[in-house]
Amino acid sequence: MARKKITVVGAGHVGATTAMWLARKELGDVVLIDIVEGIPQGKALDMMEAAPIEGFDVSITGTNDYADTAGSDVVIITAGLPRKPGMDRSDLIKTNAGIIKAVTGEIVKYSPDTTLIIVTNPLDVMVYAAWKLSGLPSHRVMGLSGALDAGRMDAFIAMELGVSVKDVRCMVIGAHANDMVPLRRHSTVSGIAITKLLDDETITAIENRTRVAGGEIVGLLKTGSAYYAPSRAVASMAEAVLLDQKRVIPSAVYCDGEYGIKGIFAGLPAKLGAGGVEDILEIELDDDEQAQLDESVNAIKELIKHLDI
Ligand code: APR
Repeated sequence: MARKKITVVGAGHVGATTAMWLARKELGDVVLIDIVEGIPQGKALDMMEAAPIEGFDVSITGTNDYADTAGSDVVIITAGLPRKPGMDRSDLIKTNAGIIKAVTGEIVKYSPDTTLIIVTNPLDVMVYAAWKLSGLPSHRVMGLSGALDAGRMDAFIAMELGVSVKDVRCMVIGAHANDMVPLRRHSTVSGIAITKLLDDETITAIENRTRVAGGEIVGLLKTGSAYYAPSRAVASMAEAVLLDQKRVIPSAVYCDGEYGIKGIFAGLPAKLGAGGVEDILEIELDDDEQAQLDESVNAIKELIKHLDI
């Protein structure tokens, strides 16, 4: 079987770290592309020199030429500006939409059948823009949201309970923004609902910390935003597609009436496999959860109005 090919657009913090996870997992040959000359080449070469030491056996190429991305099975777009302290993800809208426009045009020219995974923020708007601009079918386009947000909540629950992170599985839906919707009734420790293990107040505090977890890191780093957890989360999504794993990962997906959402991308539990977004799992929400989701979705719709594409 021919090796898979994965392109990562943007060789910055998130992009380069993503390339590293993909290579270490030997998911396929990796092409790292950036607008800046030398950076993708240098980082790719550095990783290739780590390969014999760690023992991963794939090629990692750095380039500024989209011809080198031709025939990619999966393309992950991280190109864009990250947040600075005090900035909301929505502050990045105009600049990053311009970058998404430039990038998607080149990508589909060389990889017309690819699956696109968007990481660039503001996520729910950028994934919508990428879908519109790429002309790809909606099931071939998805965005990194819940995989990261749920991972962060998992970490906080594990810290609070002093249990292994391996046993914690939270569900977070809605926008990849401060009004995301953590679902405590559908978050478990080895199948036991967290509502049976922690009191309301503690869970509320953890949900609130999860909502602003990206900002907590921006505040600490001062220059740039988080990249270890984001890159690991997007690598899981890519792995699910490349290996046809049918994993259920909350992701920003195109909604066609599910949960009462239509015509935009929002975070929902999705089955990811070789077909891209193969299914959206619908669970019953209570009135409060649905109200939170509606509010989150309305905010995405408002942001999309600012999109000039
Ligand atoms: N084409 C290709 N690469 C580009 C382009 C472009 N048109 N414009 C910018 N880039 C590259 C930059 O040169 C830089 O190397 O994107 C990279 C971004 O890297 P960082 O500045 O380190 O940002 P990072 O922390 O990786 O975040 C990237 O992911 O999580 C989101 O909010 C974050 O939108 C941001 C994105």
